[in-house]
Amino acid sequence: MHSRILVTGGAGFVGSSLAISMAQHASVPTKVTALDNLKRRGSEMNLPRLAGAGVEFRHGDIRCPEDLTGLEPGLIVDCSAEPSVLAGYDGSPQYLIRSNLEGTFHTLELARRTRADLIFLSTSRVYPIAALNSLAFAEEPTRFRLLDNQPLTGVSSQGIGETFPLEGARSLYGMTKLASELMVQEYADAYGLRAIINRCGLIAGPWQMPRSDQGVVALWVAAHYFRRPLRYIGFGGSGKQVRDMLSIADLTGLIHHQIENFTRLQGGVFNAGGGLPGSASLRELTDLCREITSNVVPIEPSSEDRRADIPIYISDCRRLASVASWAPSQSKLALLSSIHEWIRTNERSLASVLTASL
Ligand SMILES: NC(=O)c1ccc[n+]([C@@H]2O[C@H](COP(=O)([O-])OP(=O)(O)OC[C@H]3O[C@@H](n4cnc5c(N)ncnc54)[C@H](O)[C@@H]3O)[C@@H](O)[C@H]2O)c1
Repeated sequence: MHSRILVTGGAGFVGSSLAISMAQHASVPTKVTALDNLKRRGSEMNLPRLAGAGVEFRHGDIRCPEDLTGLEPGLIVDCSAEPSVLAGYDGSPQYLIRSNLEGTFHTLELARRTRADLIFLSTSRVYPIAALNSLAFAEEPTRFRLLDNQPLTGVSSQGIGETFPLEGARSLYGMTKLASELMVQEYADAYGLRAIINRCGLIAGPWQMPRSDQGVVALWVAAHYFRRPLRYIGFGGSGKQVRDMLSIADLTGLIHHQIENFTRLQGGVFNAGGGLPGSASLRELTDLCREITSNVVPIEPSSEDRRADIPIYISDCRRLASVASWAPSQSKLALLSSIHEWIRTNERSLASVLTASL
């Protein structure tokens, strides 16, 4: 077991949730340190939660190796990133590449120096856009649906598996994540690093600070709560584009399972998502938000096509299910209700950060 855990990006949505859970539920006494440069707006709101759970906070930047000195983790959970698929298109990719790629290098160097294990949070965005756009799908009244007969390997009506082809452009963000995965695997081969890679679909839950370019589920619930207008962007403005949602509660359960079974699972690359049962189109998300908030907001169709967008992504998690006794269990309604409850309880402090992108 690991008695010292470092969570990079530990004040972010995923990092803070994991750090708090690991500090509170570790089976052995564990010192958890959260390192974050607080670049993400709203991350500072997680600092009291971290302190309350006994997580040590270190203000630091993974672009700067000197910010990692003095740390002696036995396990690093890498949650630090610029997580937007649109990052870098509107100007320079410098921050993205320095944080997501050079930052991985610095994190790996820390792991090499301290012999730490690594859990790397990668993304479904490692899969190329043109390939995903070429998939056969049917248009149903409220959503697009993947068909079983597909032109490519590694995909079925159950979603995209790890054997899906990797050739082609995947967004600058996706490139930094795939390149980081390759670096992790080289460190494993060259230096004996023990690592697990999780290619996560869309992750959602309380304490996600949404922006217009990232965190769509929290954004959708917040817009309904604060009665702000929304837009269905792309795909003819139909709102039928589909993603699978992995609740932060289910992801936390997965990471605990992986820590407890690290020796058996190390070396694995896993698609981790909500799968077909956890999937929803924007239209279906709207229906759930209306049900939970009792509010109806205007939603304008927009014919604008967003760069790097795809009509449908669903994680096929059967590889993970076959080796780990884990499957997502939180329902979509329970997930959205937990976000709604979080906003309702913290309405005053959250209003400005949650409505900034609306
Ligand atoms: N949220 C999702 O839907 C999703 C899906 C797939 C993968 N991921 C991955 O999960 C991880 C966590 O994402 P998240 O949703 O919590 O994002 P987030 O933006 O909420 O958290 C990332 C944290 O990293 C910090 N950070 C950014 N640059 C940094 C730097 N140079 N040095 C130190 N800290 C830095 C930010 O301040 C932020 O607190 C990321 O690696 C992301 O790529 C997220």
